Amino acid sequence: MRTEGRELVQRYREARHDATLAVLEGFHTLKHALRFGAEILDVRTRDPAALARLAASLAPDVEARLMGLAELIDDAAFADLSPAPHPTGVMALARRPEVDVTGALAAPGPEPVVLLERPAHHGNIGAVVRVAAAAGAAAVLATGSHHPWHPASLRGGAGLQYALPVARVDDLPASNRPVVAVDPEGEGDWDAVPARSVLVFGSERAGISEALARRADLRLAIPMRAGVSSLNLATAVAVMLYRGQPNRPAPRTSPTA
Ligand SMILES: C[S@@+](CC[C@H](N)C(=O)[O-])C[C@H]1O[C@@H](n2cnc3c(N)ncnc32)[C@H](O)[C@@H]1O
Repeated sequence: MRTEGRELVQRYREARHDATLAVLEGFHTLKHALRFGAEILDVRTRDPAALARLAASLAPDVEARLMGLAELIDDAAFADLSPAPHPTGVMALARRPEVDVTGALAAPGPEPVVLLERPAHHGNIGAVVRVAAAAGAAAVLATGSHHPWHPASLRGGAGLQYALPVARVDDLPASNRPVVAVDPEGEGDWDAVPARSVLVFGSERAGISEALARRADLRLAIPMRAGVSSLNLATAVAVMLYRGQPNRPAPRTSPTA
């Protein structure tokens, strides 16, 4: 590997531990980051022709910017930019936005905030961010050690962390929003969630902690057939965000991928 390649690999490795940066793995992650206003610092591709074809067919709105940023990297260096090199052959670095959690919680609209308590899989966190962006949620917050801006969360979220406020928090933040614990052990009318709620979801294995559930105004279960223990975390979030939501986004009118 040439010296320039080694320096680049080092730069991408250090970025994985830098709280001001985002490592974007793969075409769709980069596409959404560009579309939702990320400040892109570096783009590398091992196959410019393949990237040009993807950009033309899936992201014509950002094609010119993306192709203007992309620089060639050799196969050996590309393989070392990530522990799991992306099959689309593109990687990028971007700045993380500063997220105003207090401001997001104070937003006056009816859209809910999603709070994940100690999620354990970056892929699940990403899937939650993706559906929250699609459904128009006000924010996604996560407690615990699995960060929603980790490269694997960004990959799972297809870079939609840039589409809404997404942040790690130490605990359920204080706000004037109703708090709803979404819990298979809950009860009540799961279709009657107050506007502006903070919807709290538990971790994949342990569920919602008793301490957090006690702080909720409501504890609601999504109905399930007898014998089924629970839904996947991201599936439960999707159900809650789309169930009878009066303010769900209108169907999109352009075919933008
Ligand atoms: C995989 S589940 C956790 C299962 C865990 N063993 C439990 O008993 O809660 C992850 C999270 O998804 C949500 N969830 C999954 N299925 C649900 C259901 N039927 N009703 C309400 N919440 C559900 C809850 O927030 C739960 O903490």
